[in-house]
Amino acid sequence: MLRRMEEGARVLYTEDAIRQRVGVLAAEISRDYAGRDPILVSVLKGAAWFLADLMKATTITCRMDFMAISSYGGAEESMGVVRILQDLELDIGGHHVILVEDIVDTGLTLSYLLSTLSSREPASISVCALLDKSVRRIVPVEIRYRGFDCPDRFVVGYGLDHGERYRNLRCILEVDPGELEEDPLALVPYLERP
Ligand code: PRP
Repeated sequence: MLRRMEEGARVLYTEDAIRQRVGVLAAEISRDYAGRDPILVSVLKGAAWFLADLMKATTITCRMDFMAISSYGGAEESMGVVRILQDLELDIGGHHVILVEDIVDTGLTLSYLLSTLSSREPASISVCALLDKSVRRIVPVEIRYRGFDCPDRFVVGYGLDHGERYRNLRCILEVDPGELEEDPLALVPYLERP
């Protein structure tokens, strides 16, 4: 099974490709937000990896804050009904906000977050997403800074999980979720450092 999974899994974005793309996005943000001291807002947990690397690569003053949310029903896929479990610590009123997401799929989560955060009257709000699964979109959302246009595949790594595992993969893998369900440890070889 492990062998089959190894053959079945495919590196979609390498560690180098991610680093390079994050660098480009950080440069764009640094240019666009120079002197604007933005607050980078992320949603736990998956976006934390991207947010940390993105922020490290910026060259301007900025702040960060987190929200924790949960979708009702506990389904694998977002149902668009979102409950805030942990709110922001910072007051975003009058400040420039960049909502940082690891992946935008249906757009339901992002659309809810944008309307919630907009009601707090930030000076501006834009979206930076590492992966844009645009073919899955149900609600249109404007993504100002986009890392990759992601194919409609199940992806893990760099913050993205399968049953809370594999967030610590340094690359992003495309996998068969069914096979991973049968053998949840099948991707362990990918965790080993070269
Ligand atoms: C992911 C991602 C977004 C949401 C996108 O989070 O971080 O918040 O799904 O899906 P949507 O566009 O269909 O609404 P997830 O629910 O996997 O939680 P996690 O970050 O804790 O893994």
